[in-house]
Amino acid sequence: MNAASDGCAWVTGASSGIGRAVALRLARDGWTVAASARGEDALTELAAAAEATPGRIVPVLCDVADRQQVEKAVEGLVSDHGGVALAVLNAGLYLPDRADELDLDAFGKQVNLNLMGTVGCVGALMPHWLETGKGHLAVVSSVAGYRGLPGSLAYGATKAALINFCEGLRFDFDRLGRKVQVVNPGFVKTPLTDKNNFPMPFLMDVDKAADRLVDGLAGSGFEITFPRRFTYGLKLLRSLPYRLYFPLVARATGK
Ligand SMILES: NC(=O)c1ccc[n+]([C@@H]2O[C@H](COP(=O)([O-])OP(=O)(O)OC[C@H]3O[C@@H](n4cnc5c(N)ncnc54)[C@H](OP(=O)(O)O)[C@@H]3O)[C@@H](O)[C@H]2O)c1
Repeated sequence: MNAASDGCAWVTGASSGIGRAVALRLARDGWTVAASARGEDALTELAAAAEATPGRIVPVLCDVADRQQVEKAVEGLVSDHGGVALAVLNAGLYLPDRADELDLDAFGKQVNLNLMGTVGCVGALMPHWLETGKGHLAVVSSVAGYRGLPGSLAYGATKAALINFCEGLRFDFDRLGRKVQVVNPGFVKTPLTDKNNFPMPFLMDVDKAADRLVDGLAGSGFEITFPRRFTYGLKLLRSLPYRLYFPLVARATGK
């Protein structure tokens, strides 16, 4: 992991949930954190919450789905903070869906934010990282990207694409001497999961999840996943043939 002295840490989707908790943990570790989201009030409150930490949190208003805003934000981070040493690309959206109620606008919104928003951030960071020799990237995907799940047509597709994107990036980042990691959480208690009306096994406290994520950034593993009791079970499911996978998941989810 690059050090706090190498530049700032950029966390997207920092106004609530996992991103907010990660930003605070990084500030406690001494980082200057550029915290991005669209919600100005929440970011201002977050910056105030970090005042007692050894680091600091600087709000950077940015709609990640807007490529021009992302490019402008990265330019600002480079000029104001001497570069981006670490990027935790976490902004994301989950809108439940199913085949008989498919909403293409909702589908597109998730593709634009979860997938294209993340790719746009990487695209804006790369020229800067190539110039400076720095760059540690962590992309927040989900175990929902492991395999198809009911109620998760668009979300699961974007998260599967992000895992694949990071796997592909890994080859280039190795060649360039940079670090890339993919973060695949199970269920974490946040405003995103507060809307869910189905059972969420091993639902994790958000501060604990942020600790697991940030601790994982210092490790050598490509994937950071938590809570392992749940996500390792899903890894086993992932390896099953379709004839076992579909009935098992249908039974477990009541679909
Ligand atoms: N919670 C879980 O169980 C869980 C599990 C697996 C993966 N994840 C992933 O973890 C990430 C964070 O989720 P969360 O649970 O913490 O959700 P959350 O509390 O709803 O936070 C989502 C964050 O994304 C930001 N955001 C939304 N649209 C944006 C946009 N267009 N531009 C910039 N920021 C935007 C939101 O801020 P504004 O609305 O202010 O912009 C907010 O800060 C997501 O990628 C999610 O898919 C979560």
